[in-house]
Amino acid sequence: MNITELQTSRTILIPFSTDHATEAFTWFGDPEVMKFTPFGPDKSVDATLDRIRHYLEHQAQYGFAKWIILERGSGKPIGDSGLMYCSELKRFELGYRLLPDYWNKGLATEAASAWVQHGAHALGLKYLMAFTHLDNFASIRVLEKVGFRFSHQAFLMGMPSKVFALPDSAVGCGEA
Ligand SMILES: CC(C)(COP(=O)(O)OP(=O)(O)OC[C@H]1O[C@@H](n2cnc3c(N)ncnc32)[C@H](O)[C@@H]1OP(=O)(O)O)[C@@H](O)C(=O)NCCC(=O)NCCS
Repeated sequence: MNITELQTSRTILIPFSTDHATEAFTWFGDPEVMKFTPFGPDKSVDATLDRIRHYLEHQAQYGFAKWIILERGSGKPIGDSGLMYCSELKRFELGYRLLPDYWNKGLATEAASAWVQHGAHALGLKYLMAFTHLDNFASIRVLEKVGFRFSHQAFLMGMPSKVFALPDSAVGCGEA
């Protein structure tokens, strides 16, 4: 089932459009936000535009991709989250990012949980995976809270990583 919006109690997620590039560069270009992302921060709005075009190609192919997270009420773009095919893992991979002002409020957990529900239930995707830098403790915690379990360590996209998998039985378990 293809949908174009996911809602959580404090956010709304919608597909990116190229019009979002300037706002999105505020996090894709932020070295702190991108510290644990392979290849680091985007160097320009044009680089973010290329990234968004890649998400749009994925959206056209699969009906989902990384989407922009809007704060409910204000409608302010505050980050991104979604599912993308990862050729290294040969699985769909969950990801999320927020502007630093929005960290540690449970917002990534909300967005991740919405994708787990949608991916596993509506889209019927099995074996969702995720990977984080070994030292990205906040991200590891988010994965644990939405039901992912540690699988193995690997060197992915030039980054020492922990790989996590969502067992079918964990779908719907919500917060740990
Ligand atoms: C990772 C990220 C999305 C988390 O977003 P968030 O909205 O702050 O996450 P939540 O508030 O839902 O949950 C964070 C959890 O990590 C915990 N945490 C935060 N920093 C931590 C640290 N340094 N060590 C251990 N736990 C930490 C929080 O206490 C919270 O757990 P709790 O609910 O059990 O208390 C955010 O930090 C971010 O955007 N980082 C940069 C981008 C990034 O690394 N994305 C992930 C790439 S794999």
